[in-house]
Amino acid sequence: MKRRYHVLRAHSLGSAEREFATDVLVGLTERPKRISSRWFYDAHGSELFAEICDQEAYYLTRVEHEILSAQAEDFVSAFRGTPFNLVDLGAGDGRKTVLLLDAAQRLGLDCRYVPIDVSESALDDLIERMQARYPDLEIEGVVSEYLHGIEWLVEQAPRRASLVAFLGSNVGNFDRAGAARFLRRLWNALLADDGLLIGFDLKKDPDVLLAAYNDPRGLTRRFNLNLLTRINRELGGHFDLQRFAHFGTYNVFSGAMESYLLSLCYQEVRIDALERSFTFKPFEPLHTEYSFKYLDEDVLRMAQETGFAVQARHWDDEHRFCDALWRVVKAS
Ligand SMILES: C[S@@+](CC[C@H](N)C(=O)[O-])C[C@H]1O[C@@H](n2cnc3c(N)ncnc32)[C@H](O)[C@@H]1O
Repeated sequence: MKRRYHVLRAHSLGSAEREFATDVLVGLTERPKRISSRWFYDAHGSELFAEICDQEAYYLTRVEHEILSAQAEDFVSAFRGTPFNLVDLGAGDGRKTVLLLDAAQRLGLDCRYVPIDVSESALDDLIERMQARYPDLEIEGVVSEYLHGIEWLVEQAPRRASLVAFLGSNVGNFDRAGAARFLRRLWNALLADDGLLIGFDLKKDPDVLLAAYNDPRGLTRRFNLNLLTRINRELGGHFDLQRFAHFGTYNVFSGAMESYLLSLCYQEVRIDALERSFTFKPFEPLHTEYSFKYLDEDVLRMAQETGFAVQARHWDDEHRFCDALWRVVKAS
Protein backbone atom coordinates (compact mmCIF):
# COMPACT_ATOMS: atom_id res chain seq x y z
CA MET A 1 0.00 0.00 0.00
CA LYS A 2 1.33 3.43 -0.92
CA ARG A 3 2.12 5.45 2.18
CA ARG A 4 -0.06 8.57 2.04
CA TYR A 5 0.37 10.01 5.51
CA HIS A 6 2.80 12.15 7.38
CA VAL A 7 2.86 13.22 11.02
CA LEU A 8 4.43 16.47 12.11
CA ARG A 9 5.45 16.51 15.78
CA ALA A 10 5.47 20.18 16.51
CA HIS A 11 7.36 19.84 19.81
CA SER A 12 10.20 17.62 20.82
CA LEU A 13 9.23 15.66 23.93
CA GLY A 14 11.57 17.76 26.06
CA SER A 15 9.92 21.05 25.21
CA ALA A 16 6.40 19.60 25.67
CA GLU A 17 7.40 18.54 29.19
CA ARG A 18 8.79 22.01 29.92
CA GLU A 19 5.54 23.57 28.74
CA PHE A 20 3.56 21.22 30.99
CA ALA A 21 5.82 22.04 33.95
CA THR A 22 5.45 25.78 33.33
CA ASP A 23 1.66 25.57 33.06
CA VAL A 24 1.44 23.54 36.29
CA LEU A 25 3.75 25.98 38.11
CA VAL A 26 1.81 29.04 36.95
CA GLY A 27 -1.58 27.39 37.49
CA LEU A 28 -0.89 26.12 41.02
CA THR A 29 0.41 29.49 42.16
CA GLU A 30 -2.67 31.35 40.88
CA ARG A 31 -5.71 31.99 43.07
CA PRO A 32 -7.95 30.14 42.44
CA LYS A 33 -5.61 27.35 41.36
CA ARG A 34 -6.17 26.18 37.79
CA ILE A 35 -4.66 23.86 35.18
CA SER A 36 -5.75 23.92 31.51
CA SER A 37 -7.94 21.05 30.31
CA ARG A 38 -5.56 20.42 27.40
CA TRP A 39 -3.35 18.47 29.85
CA PHE A 40 -6.12 15.89 30.41
CA TYR A 41 -5.22 14.21 27.15
CA ASP A 42 -2.30 11.86 27.68
CA ALA A 43 -2.79 8.31 26.32
CA HIS A 44 -4.99 7.26 29.25
CA GLY A 45 -6.94 10.54 29.26
CA SER A 46 -7.74 10.12 25.55
CA GLU A 47 -8.97 6.55 26.18
CA LEU A 48 -11.12 7.68 29.09
CA PHE A 49 -12.61 10.48 26.98
CA ALA A 50 -13.57 7.97 24.26
CA GLU A 51 -15.33 5.88 26.94
CA ILE A 52 -17.14 8.98 28.23
CA CYS A 53 -18.43 9.60 24.69
CA ASP A 54 -20.07 6.14 24.73
CA GLN A 55 -22.10 6.95 27.86
CA GLU A 56 -25.85 7.42 27.44
CA ALA A 57 -25.85 10.54 29.64
CA TYR A 58 -23.03 12.18 27.65
CA TYR A 59 -25.43 13.25 24.89
CA LEU A 60 -22.97 15.60 23.11
CA THR A 61 -21.28 13.00 20.90
CA ARG A 62 -24.53 11.23 20.03
CA VAL A 63 -26.46 14.33 19.02
CA GLU A 64 -23.60 15.84 17.03
CA HIS A 65 -23.28 12.49 15.25
CA GLU A 66 -27.00 12.75 14.43
CA ILE A 67 -26.53 16.24 12.92
CA LEU A 68 -23.48 15.29 10.87
CA SER A 69 -25.12 12.09 9.62
CA ALA A 70 -27.86 14.19 8.08
CA GLN A 71 -25.81 17.19 6.91
CA ALA A 72 -22.32 15.94 6.04
CA GLU A 73 -22.72 16.28 2.27
CA ASP A 74 -24.00 19.86 2.62
CA PHE A 75 -21.04 20.75 4.83
CA VAL A 76 -18.41 19.58 2.33
CA SER A 77 -20.17 20.26 -0.96
CA ALA A 78 -18.85 23.83 -1.26
CA PHE A 79 -15.48 22.24 -2.16
CA ARG A 80 -16.68 20.57 -5.36
CA GLY A 81 -13.94 21.10 -7.92
CA THR A 82 -11.50 22.63 -5.38
CA PRO A 83 -8.73 20.62 -3.66
CA PHE A 84 -9.11 21.28 0.06
CA ASN A 85 -7.80 20.41 3.53
CA LEU A 86 -10.27 18.93 5.96
CA VAL A 87 -8.63 20.21 9.15
CA ASP A 88 -9.83 18.38 12.27
CA LEU A 89 -8.97 20.57 15.27
CA GLY A 90 -8.70 18.48 18.43
CA ALA A 91 -9.56 15.43 16.35
CA GLY A 92 -9.72 12.87 19.19
CA ASP A 93 -10.86 9.50 17.82
CA GLY A 94 -12.43 11.14 14.74
CA ARG A 95 -15.64 9.15 15.14
CA LYS A 96 -17.72 12.04 13.73
CA THR A 97 -15.15 13.22 11.19
CA VAL A 98 -15.59 9.96 9.28
CA LEU A 99 -19.06 11.19 8.36
CA LEU A 100 -17.46 14.17 6.59
CA LEU A 101 -14.78 12.04 4.95
CA ASP A 102 -17.38 9.51 3.77
CA ALA A 103 -19.40 12.36 2.27
CA ALA A 104 -16.30 13.79 0.56
CA GLN A 105 -15.63 10.36 -0.95
CA ARG A 106 -19.23 9.90 -2.11
CA LEU A 107 -19.05 13.29 -3.85
CA GLY A 108 -15.62 12.49 -5.33
CA LEU A 109 -13.98 15.54 -3.72
CA ASP A 110 -10.22 16.14 -3.67
CA CYS A 111 -9.73 16.16 0.11
CA ARG A 112 -6.57 15.98 2.23
CA TYR A 113 -7.19 15.12 5.90
CA VAL A 114 -5.29 17.22 8.48
CA PRO A 115 -6.00 16.08 12.05
CA ILE A 116 -4.42 18.29 14.72
CA ASP A 117 -4.32 17.05 18.30
CA VAL A 118 -2.19 17.63 21.35
CA SER A 119 -2.51 13.92 22.26
CA GLU A 120 0.20 12.03 20.41
CA SER A 121 -1.26 8.60 21.15
CA ALA A 122 -4.77 9.64 20.06
CA LEU A 123 -3.39 11.05 16.82
CA ASP A 124 -1.29 7.97 16.06
CA ASP A 125 -4.29 5.66 16.65
CA LEU A 126 -6.54 7.90 14.60
CA ILE A 127 -4.21 7.98 11.62
CA GLU A 128 -3.79 4.22 11.67
CA ARG A 129 -7.57 3.74 11.61
CA MET A 130 -8.14 6.40 8.94
CA GLN A 131 -5.39 4.93 6.77
CA ALA A 132 -7.04 1.50 6.98
CA ARG A 133 -10.50 2.92 6.22
CA TYR A 134 -9.41 5.22 3.37
CA PRO A 135 -6.25 3.71 1.79
CA ASP A 136 -6.00 6.47 -0.83
CA LEU A 137 -6.59 9.40 1.48
CA GLU A 138 -3.69 11.81 1.92
CA ILE A 139 -3.21 12.49 5.65
CA GLU A 140 -1.04 15.15 7.26
CA GLY A 141 -1.31 14.70 11.03
CA VAL A 142 -0.03 17.42 13.33
CA VAL A 143 0.71 16.65 17.00
CA SER A 144 0.43 20.07 18.55
CA GLU A 145 -1.59 22.63 20.38
CA TYR A 146 -4.34 24.12 18.14
CA LEU A 147 -2.59 27.34 17.26
CA HIS A 148 0.76 25.75 16.42
CA GLY A 149 -1.11 23.39 14.12
CA ILE A 150 -2.79 26.33 12.48
CA GLU A 151 0.60 27.98 11.95
CA TRP A 152 1.58 24.85 10.06
CA LEU A 153 -1.35 25.52 7.74
CA VAL A 154 -0.21 29.09 7.15
CA GLU A 155 3.27 27.93 6.15
CA GLN A 156 2.00 25.60 3.42
CA ALA A 157 2.82 26.63 -0.13
CA PRO A 158 0.82 26.73 -2.25
CA ARG A 159 -2.01 27.44 0.17
CA ARG A 160 -5.07 25.22 -0.19
CA ALA A 161 -8.66 25.99 0.65
CA SER A 162 -9.66 24.58 4.05
CA LEU A 163 -12.70 23.34 5.85
CA VAL A 164 -11.82 23.42 9.57
CA ALA A 165 -13.90 21.08 11.71
CA PHE A 166 -13.94 22.15 15.36
CA LEU A 167 -16.33 19.54 16.71
CA GLY A 168 -17.43 18.30 20.10
CA SER A 169 -18.06 21.84 21.43
CA ASN A 170 -14.29 22.08 21.99
CA VAL A 171 -14.74 25.85 21.64
CA GLY A 172 -16.55 25.71 25.00
CA ASN A 173 -13.26 24.92 26.75
CA PHE A 174 -12.31 28.56 26.26
CA ASP A 175 -13.99 31.22 28.36
CA ARG A 176 -15.94 33.82 26.36
CA ALA A 177 -13.02 36.21 25.85
CA GLY A 178 -10.61 33.33 25.14
CA ALA A 179 -12.99 31.89 22.51
CA ALA A 180 -13.14 35.24 20.69
CA ARG A 181 -9.33 35.55 20.77
CA PHE A 182 -8.95 32.02 19.47
CA LEU A 183 -11.50 32.49 16.65
CA ARG A 184 -9.84 35.73 15.51
CA ARG A 185 -6.48 33.95 15.33
CA LEU A 186 -8.06 31.16 13.36
CA TRP A 187 -9.68 33.69 11.00
CA ASN A 188 -6.30 35.34 10.50
CA ALA A 189 -4.70 32.02 9.51
CA LEU A 190 -7.42 31.07 7.02
CA LEU A 191 -8.08 32.19 3.46
CA ALA A 192 -11.15 34.11 2.30
CA ASP A 193 -14.09 31.70 1.81
CA ASP A 194 -12.53 28.92 3.90
CA GLY A 195 -15.11 27.15 6.05
CA LEU A 196 -15.31 26.57 9.80
CA LEU A 197 -17.68 23.81 10.88
CA ILE A 198 -18.07 24.46 14.57
CA GLY A 199 -20.08 22.56 17.18
CA PHE A 200 -21.83 24.36 20.05
CA ASP A 201 -23.43 22.65 23.02
CA LEU A 202 -26.57 24.65 23.80
CA LYS A 203 -27.91 25.85 27.15
CA LYS A 204 -30.41 23.40 28.58
CA ASP A 205 -31.90 22.05 31.80
CA PRO A 206 -29.00 22.02 34.28
CA ASP A 207 -30.00 18.52 35.43
CA VAL A 208 -29.22 17.19 31.94
CA LEU A 209 -25.83 18.93 32.04
CA LEU A 210 -25.02 17.72 35.53
CA ALA A 211 -25.85 14.12 34.56
CA ALA A 212 -23.61 14.36 31.47
CA TYR A 213 -20.60 15.49 33.48
CA ASN A 214 -21.10 13.25 36.52
CA ASP A 215 -21.62 9.83 34.95
CA PRO A 216 -22.65 6.93 37.20
CA ARG A 217 -19.59 4.82 36.23
CA GLY A 218 -17.29 7.54 37.53
CA LEU A 219 -15.47 7.94 34.19
CA THR A 220 -15.50 11.74 34.38
CA ARG A 221 -14.12 11.51 37.90
CA ARG A 222 -11.28 9.27 36.70
CA PHE A 223 -10.69 11.56 33.71
CA ASN A 224 -10.34 14.57 36.03
CA LEU A 225 -8.11 12.76 38.55
CA ASN A 226 -5.92 11.45 35.72
CA LEU A 227 -4.48 14.95 35.51
CA LEU A 228 -2.88 14.40 38.93
CA THR A 229 -1.62 10.97 37.86
CA ARG A 230 -0.03 12.63 34.83
CA ILE A 231 1.69 15.24 37.02
CA ASN A 232 2.94 12.45 39.29
CA ARG A 233 4.34 10.46 36.36
CA GLU A 234 5.73 13.22 34.14
CA LEU A 235 6.78 15.84 36.69
CA GLY A 236 7.56 13.74 39.76
CA GLY A 237 4.46 14.92 41.60
CA HIS A 238 3.39 13.43 44.94
CA PHE A 239 -0.37 13.81 44.70
CA ASP A 240 -2.35 11.25 46.72
CA LEU A 241 -5.48 10.75 44.60
CA GLN A 242 -7.47 9.61 47.66
CA ARG A 243 -7.17 13.14 49.00
CA PHE A 244 -8.92 14.82 46.08
CA ALA A 245 -12.54 14.67 44.91
CA HIS A 246 -14.00 15.36 41.46
CA PHE A 247 -16.60 18.13 41.50
CA GLY A 248 -18.59 19.09 38.41
CA THR A 249 -21.04 21.96 38.63
CA TYR A 250 -23.03 24.32 36.39
CA ASN A 251 -22.52 28.04 36.81
CA VAL A 252 -25.86 29.60 35.93
CA PHE A 253 -24.34 33.08 35.69
CA SER A 254 -21.52 32.33 33.26
CA GLY A 255 -23.36 29.46 31.49
CA ALA A 256 -20.50 27.00 31.91
CA MET A 257 -20.14 23.51 33.24
CA GLU A 258 -17.06 23.71 35.42
CA SER A 259 -14.86 20.87 36.67
CA TYR A 260 -12.78 21.05 39.80
CA LEU A 261 -10.61 18.83 41.94
CA LEU A 262 -11.30 19.54 45.61
CA SER A 263 -8.62 18.98 48.20
CA LEU A 264 -10.22 16.90 50.96
CA CYS A 265 -7.83 18.04 53.69
CA TYR A 266 -4.99 20.39 54.47
CA GLN A 267 -2.00 19.12 52.51
CA GLU A 268 1.38 20.03 51.06
CA VAL A 269 2.14 18.37 47.73
CA ARG A 270 5.66 18.33 46.36
CA ILE A 271 6.38 18.31 42.62
CA ASP A 272 10.01 17.28 42.12
CA ALA A 273 10.42 18.78 38.63
CA LEU A 274 9.37 22.17 40.02
CA GLU A 275 11.54 21.80 43.15
CA ARG A 276 8.77 23.03 45.39
CA SER A 277 5.61 22.11 47.27
CA PHE A 278 2.12 23.55 46.99
CA THR A 279 -0.29 24.03 49.88
CA PHE A 280 -3.92 22.97 49.51
CA LYS A 281 -6.43 24.01 52.18
CA PRO A 282 -9.42 21.81 53.06
CA PHE A 283 -11.97 21.93 50.19
CA GLU A 284 -9.81 24.31 48.19
CA PRO A 285 -10.72 23.96 44.48
CA LEU A 286 -8.34 23.35 41.60
CA HIS A 287 -10.15 24.40 38.42
CA THR A 288 -9.54 21.97 35.55
CA GLU A 289 -12.16 22.57 32.84
CA TYR A 290 -14.76 24.90 31.39
CA SER A 291 -17.45 23.65 29.03
CA PHE A 292 -19.36 26.78 28.08
CA LYS A 293 -22.92 26.43 26.82
CA TYR A 294 -24.53 28.73 24.26
CA LEU A 295 -27.74 30.23 22.97
CA ASP A 296 -28.46 30.35 19.24
CA GLU A 297 -27.91 34.10 19.35
CA ASP A 298 -24.39 33.55 20.78
CA VAL A 299 -23.51 31.48 17.70
CA LEU A 300 -24.53 34.34 15.42
CA ARG A 301 -22.85 37.04 17.50
CA MET A 302 -19.55 35.16 17.88
CA ALA A 303 -19.32 34.66 14.10
CA GLN A 304 -20.03 38.29 13.43
CA GLU A 305 -17.54 39.52 16.05
CA THR A 306 -14.71 37.35 14.77
CA GLY A 307 -14.93 37.86 10.99
CA PHE A 308 -17.10 34.98 9.82
CA ALA A 309 -20.42 34.81 7.96
CA VAL A 310 -22.90 32.16 9.10
CA GLN A 311 -23.76 29.95 6.12
CA ALA A 312 -25.80 27.27 7.81
CA ARG A 313 -26.92 26.09 11.24
CA HIS A 314 -28.28 22.65 12.04
CA TRP A 315 -29.70 21.24 15.25
CA ASP A 316 -30.52 17.78 16.55
CA ASP A 317 -34.20 16.89 17.06
CA GLU A 318 -34.19 17.94 20.71
CA HIS A 319 -32.34 21.22 20.12
CA ARG A 320 -29.49 20.19 22.40
CA PHE A 321 -26.61 20.97 20.07
CA CYS A 322 -25.90 23.15 17.04
CA ASP A 323 -23.37 22.61 14.26
CA ALA A 324 -22.80 25.83 12.36
CA LEU A 325 -20.99 26.32 9.09
CA TRP A 326 -19.17 29.64 9.06
CA ARG A 327 -17.32 31.16 6.12
CA VAL A 328 -14.24 33.38 6.40
CA VAL A 329 -15.01 36.89 5.18
CA LYS A 330 -12.01 38.94 4.05
CA ALA A 331 -11.97 42.03 1.88
CA SER A 332 -10.26 41.08 -1.36
C1 LIG B 1 -13.40 16.92 23.89
S1 LIG B 1 -12.30 16.02 22.85
C2 LIG B 1 -13.16 16.13 21.30
C3 LIG B 1 -12.68 15.17 20.27
C4 LIG B 1 -13.45 15.21 18.95
N1 LIG B 1 -13.24 16.46 18.24
C5 LIG B 1 -14.92 14.98 19.16
O1 LIG B 1 -15.70 15.86 18.82
O2 LIG B 1 -15.29 13.90 19.66
C6 LIG B 1 -10.98 17.16 22.70
C7 LIG B 1 -9.82 16.71 21.82
O3 LIG B 1 -9.02 17.86 21.57
C8 LIG B 1 -7.68 17.64 21.97
N2 LIG B 1 -7.21 18.91 22.57
C9 LIG B 1 -7.61 19.47 23.75
N3 LIG B 1 -7.01 20.66 23.93
C10 LIG B 1 -6.22 20.85 22.83
C11 LIG B 1 -5.37 21.90 22.43
N4 LIG B 1 -5.23 23.00 23.18
N5 LIG B 1 -4.72 21.79 21.26
C12 LIG B 1 -4.87 20.66 20.47
N6 LIG B 1 -5.68 19.63 20.81
C13 LIG B 1 -6.36 19.74 21.97
C14 LIG B 1 -7.71 16.49 22.96
O4 LIG B 1 -6.51 15.75 22.94
C15 LIG B 1 -8.92 15.70 22.48
O5 LIG B 1 -8.53 14.70 21.55
